[in-house]
Amino acid sequence: MIERTLVLIKPDGVQRKVTGEIITRFEKVGVKIIGMKMMWIDNDFSKKHYKEHVEKPFYPGLEAMITEGPVVAMVLEGVHVIEIIRKIVGATEPHKAAPGTIRGDYAHVSAEYANTKNMSVKNLVHASGTKQEAEAEIELWFKPEELHSYKTVHDVHTL
Ligand code: PPS
Repeated sequence: MIERTLVLIKPDGVQRKVTGEIITRFEKVGVKIIGMKMMWIDNDFSKKHYKEHVEKPFYPGLEAMITEGPVVAMVLEGVHVIEIIRKIVGATEPHKAAPGTIRGDYAHVSAEYANTKNMSVKNLVHASGTKQEAEAEIELWFKPEELHSYKTVHDVHTL
């Protein structure tokens, strides 16, 4: 039941200086940050991370967006954490993301609008969608020695 997930605060989130606010939302629910770093990825790395989307029409805009500045990458650990974090992050399109979610609270545009500008949807955060995706993404972004095992107060009070 205890899972791990990869979360990226993408260049739009870093440049808007809401990194701390976003991380706070994850910390508040009690999931554990077990790895974190800032990385500025190149086009090849983008193609590895977004391998399922490389052939899609929106991919060039997505690659331009994810490589335009550094991202903050983290691995979170917790009970059903993949599902929990996707719920906190909200739907892919900010336009459809519920109020209270990160994408719903910090953005509002639709994919339809972004497509007319040949731009990526700027939705601040990426979070793994499935267990299989999480395992592959964590392996791509982090070395085993960059992930840490430690106790938080939530290990005592909420688990
Ligand atoms: S998700 O978030 O994984 O559920 O979404 P999915 O539809 O599987 O992945 C699409 C990723 O491409 C980004 N993106 C777009 N999708 C659709 N249309 C447009 N125009 C578009 N531009 C960018 C979308 O944000 C997803 O990336 P991540 O990083 O996961 O948000």
